[in-house]
Amino acid sequence: MDLMAFIRSLPKAELHLHIEGTLEPEMMFDLARRNGIALPYASVEATRAAYAFSDLQSFLDLYYAGAAVLRHERDFYELAMAYYCRAAEDGVVHAELFFDPQTHTARGVSFETVLNGLEHAGRDAREQLGISSRLILCFLRHLSEAEAFATLEDVRPHLHRIQGVGLDSSEVGHPPSKFERVFSVCRDLGLHVVAHAGEEGPPAYIWEALGRLRAERIDHGVRALEDPALVARLARDRVPLTVCPLSNVKLRVFPTMAQHNLKVLLEQGLRITLNSDDPAYFGGYLAQNFLAAAEALDLTRGQLVTLAKNSLLASFVTVAERAPWLDRLEQVAARDPVLN
Ligand code: HPA
Ligand code: ZN
Repeated sequence: MDLMAFIRSLPKAELHLHIEGTLEPEMMFDLARRNGIALPYASVEATRAAYAFSDLQSFLDLYYAGAAVLRHERDFYELAMAYYCRAAEDGVVHAELFFDPQTHTARGVSFETVLNGLEHAGRDAREQLGISSRLILCFLRHLSEAEAFATLEDVRPHLHRIQGVGLDSSEVGHPPSKFERVFSVCRDLGLHVVAHAGEEGPPAYIWEALGRLRAERIDHGVRALEDPALVARLARDRVPLTVCPLSNVKLRVFPTMAQHNLKVLLEQGLRITLNSDDPAYFGGYLAQNFLAAAEALDLTRGQLVTLAKNSLLASFVTVAERAPWLDRLEQVAARDPVLN
């Protein structure tokens, strides 16, 4: 079996995926036309050509502008269904999707419109594709604590419909501690907690995400390697890092894939998972992230199995829900001639 087929055959969970970041230029143009919204690009090709980023902020500016074409429940439904179809082809059995309600409510789209569309897609994905899914609401860290609390009020009637909360957007200058009180309320409401930290921000932000927000997973977290005490803590507590290889290269966290530190982190015993972050902007969905990392870093098939297994173990599903996926993963590994 060639490497890509092997990667696709591994049952995997995707744990770091912004649904707004799966908006492909073709769909952006279709929705812009349908909803009567002007785009700053002349064509699909010109849109793709604009995706040359120098850092996180240069990406976020285009990502938020693109999301403006999403207005109706049906738009969010179609966006998420398109993602689930691609994910199914890549061997994703479970996805925990991030969504950014503040991006939409600021434009007059109601929280319910967003949630209804995404949830409906999640139901259909289970029935039609056999993929299970959950939703994680992300607060935009460049906005204020008060705005995060206001969003939390929108969520309250729908608490049972989301699995947890996260923290995304512009990292540097917006440390996790800014949202300590918001996350404390969220935890008391029984929500799971994750946070982006250590993508562009320093290791201190990862310490804050763990200590002040009590994050159960760290999104990105690659700058942890700069702090040996932090690496030891992450290893000891088996804190999952949701690493996004293609994203990190596109946003110049690492100059090339060959210089990515995920193999080092994995070999230091951290629970590393691979994810696609914003695949429409960064050039590939989950299997493509596995392949790019495997080829550039010479990952063994055993390491690819470990990465897939880590993703299943790091997901927020019950032990009973993940058991059949873990069994299937073991069977795939046992059958592979390269591994045996
Ligand atoms: N980092 C921060 N915010 C984001 C990202 C990311 O990688 N993707 C979408 N919002
Ligand atoms: Zn992200």
